[in-house]
Amino acid sequence: MKTSTSPPFLWGAATSSHQIEGHNRHNDWWAWESTGAIDGGVRSGAATDHWNRFREDLGLARDLGLTSYRFSIEWSRLEPSEGKWDSAAMDWYSELIDECGRLGLVPMATLHHFTLPGWLAEQNGFSHEGAPKRFAAYASRVARSLGSRVPLWCTVNEPLVLATGSYLGRFMPPAQYDPKAASQTCYNLLKSHVLAYDILKGEISKREGPFRERPLEVGFAHNMLHFVPERHYHPLEIVVARALSGLYNDAWLAAVNGEKQRFGLLGVLPLAPQLAQARRRRTFDFIGVNYYTKAYVQWRPRAKSKERAAELPLGISFARRRETASDLGWAIDPAGFRHMLAKLRRFNAPVYVTENGIADANDQFRQAYLLRHLREVAHAKANGLDIRGYYHWSLLDNFEWIKGFWPRFGLYSVDYETLARTARKSAYFYRELIDAHAPGAPPDPEILSEFDLFTQS
Ligand code: BGC
Repeated sequence: MKTSTSPPFLWGAATSSHQIEGHNRHNDWWAWESTGAIDGGVRSGAATDHWNRFREDLGLARDLGLTSYRFSIEWSRLEPSEGKWDSAAMDWYSELIDECGRLGLVPMATLHHFTLPGWLAEQNGFSHEGAPKRFAAYASRVARSLGSRVPLWCTVNEPLVLATGSYLGRFMPPAQYDPKAASQTCYNLLKSHVLAYDILKGEISKREGPFRERPLEVGFAHNMLHFVPERHYHPLEIVVARALSGLYNDAWLAAVNGEKQRFGLLGVLPLAPQLAQARRRRTFDFIGVNYYTKAYVQWRPRAKSKERAAELPLGISFARRRETASDLGWAIDPAGFRHMLAKLRRFNAPVYVTENGIADANDQFRQAYLLRHLREVAHAKANGLDIRGYYHWSLLDNFEWIKGFWPRFGLYSVDYETLARTARKSAYFYRELIDAHAPGAPPDPEILSEFDLFTQS
């Protein structure tokens, strides 16, 4: 097994720039929020004021015994107008990385987590053919300024969510129904990823700082959903669930593995052209998987279009009635996580769980959620998957995109009046779990079972 040569296992938590920093006024979400697009007309505003409180927040991560921190770099801060770079913003990320180093937190940086500089959004964002070149210029700046001290990189976060959310599901700006633009976005995100992969690998030659010995690994964060037919006997739902899983879960992984690109779905998404630069080569060092829940696929030919997903006779729901679910109504489905991790085995590659967590304001399910998903990590590891880290989403409550601030994903709660951070019980639980393992050891099934307060798992 490969595992004996793996670097120490990383226990982490994840965040993203726009969700915590505050006042990211040069990006497309900021503009979209001002049109009243977010539930209740909420705006991200100061968010958690992480921009001014990052030392405190990293200290909170350290207090949990975490050994890694995943964050994203806000492109719109570094390049607020096209071709004009803000060196003070770059200095801030540099300080953040140094602070991680001082606290023993291995930094994992994401170059793109949903938000776009406003000027690029005005040029149609990633659906525009010029976007990958702009992204490459940004990646190159970042690589040269910050690259030597950051061992772990995600190029893009959840490319399929971005493409489908922006141009099919309409829960992200520009919120248009435009399948052709969705398909172009898939193509351009793949191209952006490939360019950034080559840039990061090529331009980070010198390694510095406390983590210089850790291998430089470049990957991405890919959302995976466990698609199941609403009615297990319904032939169309079975077929559609399989097709959706193929597009949403499998197509990106095949593409970055140099295989045939399948960004298309009959009647939904026109097939994107093949990107030659991605064929017959692998453009990742690790697979990052973001896993939250399952998706029930419903065939609903008679439903009114606003009840359906996009313009199709389809419905998606994330839990059945009476099924235990998060505040967002997402079922707790660790078995689905097992299936998704099993899909990754064929790549024989390092894996990081780059996000996993639950919206749970009362903190009633989070401990069980954590334990049961870590158990799947341990199970996959025992079955030969080279899992090198787990990042809980999220370190602290934050701006949950179109929903605003009410969904609470944090290990730490945030009081949005005072901006005070308070550890939830599950934060202490996570710390105890980590402490029970030897430094750098992966989740151990026997140790986890000692924490097994939850009989029905
Ligand atoms: C995204 C996060 C988001 C989380 C919960 C993930 O898909 O990467 O930004 O907050 O899900 O919805």
